[in-house]
Amino acid sequence: MNISRYPATRNQSLRAWSAADEYILKELAETEISGKKLAICNDRFGYLATHLHHQNPYSVIAYQSQKASIMMNLQNNGLMPDPEKLLNPLEPVPESIDIGVMIVPKSLSLFQFYLQHLHRSLTEDGIVICGFMTRHFSTQILTIAGEYFEDVRQSLAWKKSRVLILRGKKQDPDFDPVDTIPYTFSNGTSEVIRQYAGVFSSGNIDFATQFLIEHLEVTGDEHTILDLASGNGVIARAIQLKKPDAELHLMDDFFLAVESSKLNLAPGNVHFHWSDSIEDIGNVEFDLVVSNPPFHFAHEVNIEVAVDLFREVAGKLKPGGRFLCVANKHVGYLAYLKKFFTSCTILAENKKYIIYESKKMKADG
Ligand SMILES: C[S@@+](CC[C@H](N)C(=O)[O-])C[C@H]1O[C@@H](n2cnc3c(N)ncnc32)[C@H](O)[C@@H]1O
Repeated sequence: MNISRYPATRNQSLRAWSAADEYILKELAETEISGKKLAICNDRFGYLATHLHHQNPYSVIAYQSQKASIMMNLQNNGLMPDPEKLLNPLEPVPESIDIGVMIVPKSLSLFQFYLQHLHRSLTEDGIVICGFMTRHFSTQILTIAGEYFEDVRQSLAWKKSRVLILRGKKQDPDFDPVDTIPYTFSNGTSEVIRQYAGVFSSGNIDFATQFLIEHLEVTGDEHTILDLASGNGVIARAIQLKKPDAELHLMDDFFLAVESSKLNLAPGNVHFHWSDSIEDIGNVEFDLVVSNPPFHFAHEVNIEVAVDLFREVAGKLKPGGRFLCVANKHVGYLAYLKKFFTSCTILAENKKYIIYESKKMKADG
């Protein structure tokens, strides 16, 4: 099989799969799986979906970029995707499954969320196989697995990876996947921000995000506004409190982020987009785009996605429009912002964070 990454990367050290994926296949090869029903979680680029395609498995799709990657890899290997087998993370598997497989995500609450998902549709004598790189191991993984299964067996290490084999379903521990974060906005309004497992910055509002919100002013003529990479939607909510009649768009690649933001924004002129590209929003141009952009994904640090989004923002701003972006000071965005926008200045900074204000020139200069 030929498996590659979407989006593509220039970083030669980033791969489309790990030894943990290979170990899961190795384990399945030693298990009687023919005719068995399978569901796969957290298969980031489609290595497992492609190799297990002959089993017609369900795939839980959490990211639009993941969906694009799985589709691309199936097609590149001459395999036909079955859209009915692609489920979003809040969609139960529509029939009983015999085998669940998962790469353990970085977020342990997301691990629990996926485990609960698989556990709920698993037959009584079904098994779940979870793969992870040994360096990402935490004893919490075993504790969580033990809440769902009587028998938690950890394999020997192979190519610096391991698998867990889980058997003997326990009663559903009924874990609530929605976390609550109390937060007071700059105007003194206190609210409880809600977010699903795995959404950025669990337990508190990220400090860079808070810094952006504190310095965020919306001018009278800024009406059409995008919160790019919106996560739980707290930045958009801050704008909504300042300017309730604004046309707000929120966009995130992660399904559970978009669903979380729906819990936090008041109904009105608000549009939610589960997408990894601003092009998907359609024929809208923005007066203002705000963002705390992604610079790592799971265990990887990579600014390529953010840089691609900046290029897209430049194409979607109205003449005279602004792009406000907060970052850790060590992240090197400035050269790219200068390249894509007419001007880029510093709106605010402290020891750790910086807010760049980038502008697109008005038609008359
Ligand atoms: C640093 S977090 C910021 C989240 C939120 N705005 C906040 O401040 O709490 C970055 C977000 O980017 C999202 N993301 C990653 N790649 C993306 C892409 N290509 N398009 C849109 N969102 C993306 C992640 O899912 C994550 O929610």
